[in-house]
Amino acid sequence: MNNGDVSQGRRRFLIGATSVVGGVGVVGAAVPFVASWNPSAKAEAAGAPVTVNISKIEPGQQITVEWRGKPVWVVRRTPEMLENIKKMNDEVKDPESKEPQQPSYIEGIYRSLKPEIVVLVGICTHLGCVPTYRPEVAPEDLGEDWLGGFFCPCHGSHYDLAGRVWQAQPAPLNLEVPPYRYDDESTLTIGLDPEAA
Ligand code: FES
Repeated sequence: MNNGDVSQGRRRFLIGATSVVGGVGVVGAAVPFVASWNPSAKAEAAGAPVTVNISKIEPGQQITVEWRGKPVWVVRRTPEMLENIKKMNDEVKDPESKEPQQPSYIEGIYRSLKPEIVVLVGICTHLGCVPTYRPEVAPEDLGEDWLGGFFCPCHGSHYDLAGRVWQAQPAPLNLEVPPYRYDDESTLTIGLDPEAA
């Protein structure tokens, strides 16, 4: 072996390391510039409220909006769906949602301000996958106990149409209900409490 090769290799490594440090420095300098240049995008990422027109949501339909970078579902539940939620009371872990997975003004088995409209953060409480909306009753792949709800494809957690997790599932908690209010009959604002100005 010859020492010339070793020092050659070491020199090459040092040059490589220096240019990486230089690269990090440039990125670090760019971030404060972008943040001060676009404050509205920054405010939005931090959680600006989102207004949703619910007048076009058909009975049984789900829409998804983004709030704080998360999917938020709005579903218009039919009278049959509300009946099916009642039937699930003995099958779910926390029927009255005593765990604080919703604001204090959301109470009861329907977990909503008005029974027909439910608003849920669409993130599984197990490891954060996005569950799938499965409103049908007793589909072949989910079995005859299924009365409509949300199914997480990652590890199979079952939630009912109020986002209440079934017993003996990987997910520990009901789906989260975000703060929201009605501005009028057909408009919701997600991210603001009802009493907020
Ligand atoms: S992330 Fe939903 S069941 Fe695991």
